[in-house]
Amino acid sequence: MHILAFSGSNRKDSFNQRLVAVAARGAQEAGVDTTIINLGDFSLPIYCQDLQNESGLPPEAQRLKNLFKEADGFLIASPEYNSAFSPLLKNAIDWVSRSEGKDDPAGAAFAGKSAVLMAASPGALGGLRGLVFLRMLLGNIGITVLPNQRAIPKAADAFLEDGNLRDEKVQASILNLGGTLAQHLQRLES
Ligand SMILES: Cc1cc2nc3c(=O)[nH]c(=O)nc-3n(C[C@H](O)[C@H](O)[C@H](O)COP(=O)(O)O)c2cc1C
Repeated sequence: MHILAFSGSNRKDSFNQRLVAVAARGAQEAGVDTTIINLGDFSLPIYCQDLQNESGLPPEAQRLKNLFKEADGFLIASPEYNSAFSPLLKNAIDWVSRSEGKDDPAGAAFAGKSAVLMAASPGALGGLRGLVFLRMLLGNIGITVLPNQRAIPKAADAFLEDGNLRDEKVQASILNLGGTLAQHLQRLES
């Protein structure tokens, strides 16, 4: 059993990448092997069907897709851009969703898997509005998105230097988000 954890940000000091790292620790502590990746480490062009038709999936898209295929669940921290998720996250999902022939149906990297969502924003709503769209998108591609989620407002003041959350209760709730996904996957397996 395996969880893939990532954010929708490629910003150097991303709040969301820090947030998902805390949740990933919660999942790990609950006993499920968890890998954190940074989508910014995958150099993906904007999805173009002509490009895929001409030369297949770019190697970096294939590398990302393999990580998604190997995962049973996803921890996703989504920055809110103009009340929706980021283009980086959407572009990654679009590339990973693509079929490469009969033995690899479209969406195979997502279908039947589970996810837990979270967000952080310097704003007052913590990126909550973007999670509405993300939850809908993921549901439409066959992912069970668990009801538990958190949005962290005023993110510029919410984190300590070491990446943990300043407020102990908030820290515990994010660790618990990771633990919730881990326990859900463990229940499915048993
Ligand atoms: C194009 C753009 C649109 C944004 N729109 C919103 C928004 O609708 N709501 C919000 O709370 N923050 C918005 N922000 C601010 C982001 O929440 C902020 O940049 C945050 O740090 C992004 O997450 P990150 O730290 O993980 O990169 C926007 C930022 C950008 C660059």
